[in-house]
Amino acid sequence: MTRGETFDMVIFGGVGDLATRKLIPALYYLNRDGQIVAGSRIIGTGRSDMEQSAFRSHAEDACKRYVRDSDLDEAALNAFLERLFYERVDADSSDDFQTLATTLDRGDPDRCRVYFLATAPQLFAGICEQLAAAGLNTAQSRVVLEKPLGTNLSSATEINTRVGAVFQEDQIFRIDHYLGKETVQNLMALRFGNALFEPLWRRTNINDVQITLAEQVGLEGRAGYYEHTGAMRDMIQNHLLQLLCIVAMEPPTATEPNAVRDEKLKVLRALKPLKGHQAIRDTVRGQYRAGAINGQAVPGYLDEDGVSPDSTTETFAVIKAHIDTWRWAGVPFFLRTGKRLAQRRAEIVINFHPVPLNIFGADLGDLPANRLVIRLQPDEGISLSVMAKQPGPAMRLKPVSLRLDFARTFKVRPLDAYERLLTEVIRGNLTLFMRNDELEAAWRWVDPILAAWQEDGDRPRGYNAGSWGPSSAVSLLARDGFGWHEEVEDGP
Ligand code: BG6
Repeated sequence: MTRGETFDMVIFGGVGDLATRKLIPALYYLNRDGQIVAGSRIIGTGRSDMEQSAFRSHAEDACKRYVRDSDLDEAALNAFLERLFYERVDADSSDDFQTLATTLDRGDPDRCRVYFLATAPQLFAGICEQLAAAGLNTAQSRVVLEKPLGTNLSSATEINTRVGAVFQEDQIFRIDHYLGKETVQNLMALRFGNALFEPLWRRTNINDVQITLAEQVGLEGRAGYYEHTGAMRDMIQNHLLQLLCIVAMEPPTATEPNAVRDEKLKVLRALKPLKGHQAIRDTVRGQYRAGAINGQAVPGYLDEDGVSPDSTTETFAVIKAHIDTWRWAGVPFFLRTGKRLAQRRAEIVINFHPVPLNIFGADLGDLPANRLVIRLQPDEGISLSVMAKQPGPAMRLKPVSLRLDFARTFKVRPLDAYERLLTEVIRGNLTLFMRNDELEAAWRWVDPILAAWQEDGDRPRGYNAGSWGPSSAVSLLARDGFGWHEEVEDGP
C-alpha cells in the first residue's frame, strides 16, 4: 500500500490505553493533514459490545485530551470521527472474526488492510491465527505488533513462529516507537549525511557513550502490566537497545529496510554477553521509594495501587555494555532508565577523548573533552560542546555549545512517533520496524541478565522519587573513572 491508497485499519484493543493515548490522536493528525484517503476506515475492536456512537465519543474524548488544543479543529474532528467504526471481536471467537471478515469484505476484498494489535502480547499469535482462519491474511494485509513482544527469548520466538506461519515477514511491522522519534531519524542524518562525524565515530576518539531514558512519571495506573515487566523488559530490551544500534551500527548501504536492519542486527549480536556475577557487577537495579516530583509528594513503588508489598520489580536499571567489534572494543556504553527520576530526559551522550596535552597551562589541569548530546526529550535537538577562549586578557578556555534546536530551525510541528510509524505502515515501509531476528537477538542478550538478577536474590536498591536513582548507579561509572552527563553540567 502506498500513500494515496484507501485502506482499512483494524485496531485490536481499540479502547485500550495505547489506542486512546497514542493511536487515535495520531490518526486524527494524519486525517487532518490529508494523509488518509477518502473511503478509508478505522475499525476499533474490543471484547465488549459497544455502540458505534459510544466508540466515536470515546475517540472524541481521546482527541480532546491528547491532541494539542491549538491543533484541534471541530470540522477536522468530525471528519475524522466519521471514519471510525466499532466491532466486537473476542480473540477466542471464530464467529466474531467471520463477522469482521464480512465487514471488511463489504468495503472491498482487495483493499489494503492493517491489523494493529494493541493488546497484551499473549494474544498476538492467537489473533493472527484467527485472522488467517477467517481468510483475512490477504496479500494486501499487514499486521502491526506493539511491544513488549514476549517476556523472554522463548516467548518472543513463539510469537515470531506462530505469527510467521500465517503472515510473511514483510507483512509484519514490529513497533518500537522510539524508532519513530524525529531525533532518532536525525541521528541517522547526522551520522550518514555528514562527512564530519564518521571518521571520529570509533574507539580511537570516543571515550564512552551514555544513553539515558529518564522519566518523572510513575506507574500511571499500569501496575498489572509493569509488575511483571520492570524497567529491563519495558525500556532496555527495546527502546534503549534500538537507540544503541543506531548509534553503533556500521553505515548501511541504503535506507532500504533490510540494509538498515542487517546492520542493527550485527550490533546486537556483537554485544558482549553479561552473565552471572559479571551481570551483577556491571548492572544496577533500583526501585523508587516515596519522594517528591516537582515539589509534589509521591508514593513509593511498593505503595502504588496494584503493586505487591514485597515486589522486587525494578523501576530503574543501569547496564554497562560493551560491543565486541573493531570500531567499539573497549568503549563502554552506559544504558540507564528509570521512573520517578529527577527530570524527564531522554538523550544520547557521546563523550570524546580529551586533548592529549593542555598547552594552555598544565597547572590548570585537563581540558574538558568534547561532548555531543543528542536530545530526544523534553525538547529535540543536538549540541556539541567545544572549547572556546573566554573574552579578556588571559588565555582562559571554557566549554561552549554549538546547538541545533529542531523546533526553532525548522519551525514545523514534528510528527509524533506514532504518526510517523502509522504513515510508514500505510506506505508499507519496514525500515523503522524490528525484524524477527533483531528482536530475538535483543532477548538473547537480555535473558541472562534477568536470570542473574533472579538468582542473585538481592532486592533492587531503593532510591528516592525525584532523585537520579540509587547511588550505586554513580559508583558503577566512577569505579572506572566515568561520570554521568548531568553531574558535570546541567543541560546539553
Ligand atoms: C513505553 C513504556 O514503551 O514507553 C512506558 O511502556 C514508558 O513505560 C514509555 O513510559 C516512554 O515513552 P516516551 O515516548 O514517553 O518516552
